[in-house]
Amino acid sequence: MKKILAFETSCDDTAVAIVDEMGKIYGEAIFSQLEVHEPYLGVVPEIGSRAHIEQITKVTNEAFDKAGLRRIDIDAVAATFAPGLLGPLLVGAQFAKGVAMALGVPLIAVHHIEGHIFSGFRDEGFFEPPFLALVVSGGHTSLYRCDENYRVALVGQTLDDAAGEAFDKIGRAMGLGYPAGKRMDELARNGNSQRFSLPVAMRNSQAFNFSFSGLKTSALNGIVQNAPMDDQSVSDLCAGVQEAIAQALCEKTIRAAKSLNVDRVVTGGGVMANSRVRQMLKTACEENGIGLYLPKVRYCTDNAVMIAKVGHIKLSLNQTSSYRVDPCASLPIEEAFSLVS
Ligand code: KG4
Ligand code: ZN
Repeated sequence: MKKILAFETSCDDTAVAIVDEMGKIYGEAIFSQLEVHEPYLGVVPEIGSRAHIEQITKVTNEAFDKAGLRRIDIDAVAATFAPGLLGPLLVGAQFAKGVAMALGVPLIAVHHIEGHIFSGFRDEGFFEPPFLALVVSGGHTSLYRCDENYRVALVGQTLDDAAGEAFDKIGRAMGLGYPAGKRMDELARNGNSQRFSLPVAMRNSQAFNFSFSGLKTSALNGIVQNAPMDDQSVSDLCAGVQEAIAQALCEKTIRAAKSLNVDRVVTGGGVMANSRVRQMLKTACEENGIGLYLPKVRYCTDNAVMIAKVGHIKLSLNQTSSYRVDPCASLPIEEAFSLVS
């Protein structure tokens, strides 16, 4: 059984995993930089790069210890090479190259969004392509079509803020720390989503694009007008924002699936951990006869298992990379092939 050692360092998590071609996870370790960046209420790339350098050897050793495997048991090394913060990407990419060269095994350079799309590959309920993929994270809110040959193309995306970014910016204005999405999900459970009037943008547009900056502005106005916010108002606004985001995601996804004639939807990205988004999308897909794959909550946010899964797909398609490939901060998914030699 082929085993891939995978690294994910595109943002604020140093993540390492060892996964086999059937999706079995042997060992997994992650160092989250949340506390490192928390005082700045956002990710500081240079501080992040340094933290990745400090942690990557420890996290790798931990993954091997949990797996009970030796270095020579590894058949290939995969790492996120794009898109992301260049400094953090460089740390993971160079470390991965070094390990691949030392072991004399293939290197597989992975596109981060491919990771989110295929995070459930080989898990129960995951679909064979073709399917539509919805990726909703702190940096992306996009719909993609994946064809039979695992080629992915963009169908629509946010024209301004990503959904996770909207959660984080609105949450930050309410003093909920960074990132705020998870906390807002918890607080929304006691909230009335109808209290604040918040827009669902581009409802009538036929394109498959999203926009969340109007929602952000309305929510920030609501915060100013109701200052100081009591606990109930905070919960109500969390519930309202969550509802508006869930509605926008559901409507565009169903419309895109119908218009592209696909009856399977795969999802991924940190915001797919949101309980209301999951529930609303599940109901909408059931009502429209569309199959839905929701990843386990812990594999929605950034992790190295998803990078290993893409690594196995690419290894089976012989799409390995040169040891000379360089990471890249921004790379459209259609150009992910440029990472393959
Ligand atoms: O995929 P991810 O870990 O990193 C990126 O690639 O961006 O996503 C992080 C984003 C953050 O914006 C965070 O607030 C959001 O996912 N998030 C959530 C939840 N858990 C994480 N948003 C809403 N509800 C959640 N339960
Ligand atoms: Zn991500």
